[in-house]
Amino acid sequence: MASLHPVSADFAARARIDKAAYERDYAESVRDPVAFWDRIGRRLDWIRPYTQVKDVSFDARDLHIRWYADGELNLAANCLDRHLAARGDKTAIIWEGDDPAQSRRISYRELHAEVCKAANLLANLGVGKGDRVAIYLPMIPEAAVAMLACARIGAVHTVVFGGFSPDSLAGRIADSGCKLVITADEGLRGGKKVPLKVNVDEALQRPGTNSVETVLVVRHTGGAVAMQPPRDRWWHALMEGQPATHAAVAMNAEDPLFILYTSGSTGKPKGVLHTTGGYLVYVSYTHECVFDLREDDVYWCTADVGWVTGHSYLVYGPLANGATTVMFEGVPNWPDTSRFWQVVDKHQVTLFYTAPTAIRALMREGEAPVKKASRASLRLLGTVGEPINPEAWEWYWRVVGDGRCPIVDTWWQTETGGILITPLAGAIDQKPGSATKPFFGVKPAIVDANGAVLDGATEGNLVITDSWPGQMRTVYGDHQRFIDTYFRTYPGMYFTGDGARRDEDGYYWITGRVDDVINVSGHRLGTAEVESALVAHPKVAEAAVVGYPHDIKGQGIYAYVTLKSGEPATDALRKELVAWVRKEIGPIATPDQLQWAPGLPKTRSGKIMRRILRKIAENAPDQLGDTSTLADPSVVKNLVDERLVK
Ligand code: WTA
Repeated sequence: MASLHPVSADFAARARIDKAAYERDYAESVRDPVAFWDRIGRRLDWIRPYTQVKDVSFDARDLHIRWYADGELNLAANCLDRHLAARGDKTAIIWEGDDPAQSRRISYRELHAEVCKAANLLANLGVGKGDRVAIYLPMIPEAAVAMLACARIGAVHTVVFGGFSPDSLAGRIADSGCKLVITADEGLRGGKKVPLKVNVDEALQRPGTNSVETVLVVRHTGGAVAMQPPRDRWWHALMEGQPATHAAVAMNAEDPLFILYTSGSTGKPKGVLHTTGGYLVYVSYTHECVFDLREDDVYWCTADVGWVTGHSYLVYGPLANGATTVMFEGVPNWPDTSRFWQVVDKHQVTLFYTAPTAIRALMREGEAPVKKASRASLRLLGTVGEPINPEAWEWYWRVVGDGRCPIVDTWWQTETGGILITPLAGAIDQKPGSATKPFFGVKPAIVDANGAVLDGATEGNLVITDSWPGQMRTVYGDHQRFIDTYFRTYPGMYFTGDGARRDEDGYYWITGRVDDVINVSGHRLGTAEVESALVAHPKVAEAAVVGYPHDIKGQGIYAYVTLKSGEPATDALRKELVAWVRKEIGPIATPDQLQWAPGLPKTRSGKIMRRILRKIAENAPDQLGDTSTLADPSVVKNLVDERLVK
């Protein structure tokens, strides 16, 4: 029996949403979504108010998703201009550097001026509505400025995580046809330098990237970089002298806002496309409700802007709400493992949102590094990115929150734009490990393998049966892939790719991916991507990659590699292959285990039986299940005997 953490009476008394309000509004939101989202949509400033709210069909033959379709607005104006009168001097961004001696506060007025200058700069470089811009920056305020400047002129940004390799960056630039890249000389994480500009130079030598006309370089560490005129320009030099005012461009609600690449079961990462109006309505409203936002809160989301969490809940949601958002350049364990809590005290953080993997890593260091800091400012904690094990949840609650702070375990995806299943701290009793209940307007269901909707307490595949405004609209450049990936498996429903259980109280427990996506430290990776990196090595004949349980990372990467005949399986080669994948994709894809496989278990038709490989990686050879369809059963015996982690 899972433990129950009831809503605290103190918290509920002051919360935006209590039990009665949740139940009433949820019922209304699913009974009459048009009336509900019509009302919520008014929280934004519209240049031209919408008259249509929802126009959606999940039928694969006529798939379309449109929200507020005749409305016009500008996203940056909603995040900045409309706050100037009442909140001009309020801090918009608190920047905390990798180096604890460095931090900066940027007011809404200052941020507005910077974004206007950057918007003018981009426009002067010939970037306009619909043009794609790649942002490959460290966690510095310029990242938010660049995103908002794109939104201000209607350009579509694609932020690429600074930890991705030149190849990964090149693939994204080529797929989206970017005209401009914004980068920095170097990034800084845990005292180590990341050669961003060098990576960009390398990426732009790859085929398919010649759409790029300009590279803007932010001077951050001051490290020497080789500028290639006329392509490369210094950001600060061009920002100087730009007017600090700019008339925000009116955008249609359904105009694209950004493309963010994420891993799927098959093929290359896909460009998840989000549009403007519905997305901003959804992220601002969820941010306000889920974090119980108040005017004087200091909100800190530790995610990088390169991930969807950084888009929705570090930049857009908080700024649309006029909140103070903390942007942290560093890592939790540098200069020491107390860093998170030092930052909490330093900036008096009230709302703290992080990933289970970080909690598990810090938990391993014991309580002392946490207790060294006061943390008295904290009033609510959140998690995102992967299932949180109840043990880590309890530690977060008891040690970090001193038993005072409710925890919101928020389930969502790059595709969903914002949080879909989550506790509301004043309304929903928390069960450690459960994302609990659907947010307003969200209709989850659990289906069996045939798509039959299961009632009551049950387990199966998680689908969402109706649209919400923050939903992705297409896969950039491949609408068919969008339909096939999300709407074909279970006709008429959005398929999440996750498994879930629903308990007798109607609580949802996400059990993890049911496809070939793995979740490593909260980062999504397709096993196919790692496999194709491995087989690109000249000595590799074949590779199969699966996830396996990992204490800190949630899932680790387990690779089975078959070498070309005659290639000796040496330790040196094992190391070389691990380093190879790291270089091809980026450090997050580094295999944790690499086992030589003289053969891979295949069906007679040649399909790799991953189910068996997963069980071997999990070290559960007694649970291999039916192996009667294997072409050569001796292959499995060999792999079990040679398994790495005994
Ligand atoms: C997983 C991150 C359990 C899930 C916002 C999902 C979670 C994938 C949770 C999306 C959670 C995210 N509990 N699992 N609270 N949050 N996931 O696109 O498998 O990077 O499908 O978006 O992370 O990862 P993505």
